[in-house]
Amino acid sequence: MHQPLTPDYYHYEWTAINSAFCSHDGSVVVTWHDGKQLECHPLWLRENAPGPGGIDPRSKENDLNIVDLNLETRITKAFVQNGALIVHFQPEGRQASFHPGWLRHVADGKHKTFALLPQPQVWTSADLIEPPTHDGPSVLASDEALADWLDDLLKYGLARLIRLPTANEIVELVGNRIGVLRDSNFGLTWHVSVDIDPNSTANTNAELPAHSDLPSRETPPGFQLLHCQKNTASGGMSTMTDGLAVVDHLETNEPEVLELLTSRQWTFFNRDESQDHRWTGPIIDKGDGRVPWTFRAFHPVRGFPAMPEEEISDAYAALQRFGYLANWDKFQIRYEFTPGDLVAFDNRRVLHGRESFDTTAGVRRLRGTYLDSDEVYSRMRVLRRHLTSSNSSNTFSATGANINA
Ligand SMILES: [Fe+2]
Repeated sequence: MHQPLTPDYYHYEWTAINSAFCSHDGSVVVTWHDGKQLECHPLWLRENAPGPGGIDPRSKENDLNIVDLNLETRITKAFVQNGALIVHFQPEGRQASFHPGWLRHVADGKHKTFALLPQPQVWTSADLIEPPTHDGPSVLASDEALADWLDDLLKYGLARLIRLPTANEIVELVGNRIGVLRDSNFGLTWHVSVDIDPNSTANTNAELPAHSDLPSRETPPGFQLLHCQKNTASGGMSTMTDGLAVVDHLETNEPEVLELLTSRQWTFFNRDESQDHRWTGPIIDKGDGRVPWTFRAFHPVRGFPAMPEEEISDAYAALQRFGYLANWDKFQIRYEFTPGDLVAFDNRRVLHGRESFDTTAGVRRLRGTYLDSDEVYSRMRVLRRHLTSSNSSNTFSATGANINA
């Protein structure tokens, strides 16, 4: 049987529908054999009808201009044919069929933004000693290895590759395994080393407490890759803190501090001779409930409190408390950064830092890049789609990494 077109590139199981009935408001309710149900609004279903004035088979996108949608559209007849849903739209008089597997993925909520991504697993130093670790050359060569690494990256907010070469282009090569790199005034890729005339505190040998990069942007970079090319300096251990664990602690024990951190705004700057980036937001940005939380924390680029004068003292006290917690051994892990290592992390969730280091008898040279979260999410979904179809399995397994390797 010819399978109805779906508005995407997924292969759906033919999960046959058991029954369909029209409700009084013109929608249709479909029921599967296991009792699962989905109520389909007539306007939504009409937009997704395969063919002209619906889903274009070439683009697999909706070509119905919203001004041409008849808001009086109702489903007046619905039935099941070979497991597929068949409906009649009135007053148009159009019949359309819908793939039962595509409808089922909606019923199961798999169309939602984060549905196909690993669930974040909040961690403290009691759970992780070092970043979850994977073999770098394998990730460059194999999609299965890449999926394993990204699975950990999305779960824990950080994951490390080891045994990579130390050439300049490696960070870009690894980044491009995921997607398009995010450019900035620091360049598509950039170095972290001790500069004579630094334009960032990162390029000194100073300690960097737990922080996130570029809080001075409307949308700070989603993910960061840092590749260690050389490290003969003494000191300079790397640190990571799961911001979500600090939030959990604050929610339970210090809600008044969390309230100040999520509601009081600060203005961040990032400037040099030819740049003037600035953005205002809270230290912990809960977003609008649809996006992951964003931590804006980096004292060298925090410029001004953006709040009434009488709130500033309390806001500073909350900021200091956050600084203490984010750098507390209970939450923060500390590990060596060895040449050939590449650590990827969620820059808006996991706060990174380093100890100060001594360069009188050695060199510490890293190369980094950023990617928007969308790139990482998209790559994970597509890997899952391809690996699932090649394995002929509905379940995507990306385990096998040794968390504390
Ligand atoms: Fe940084």
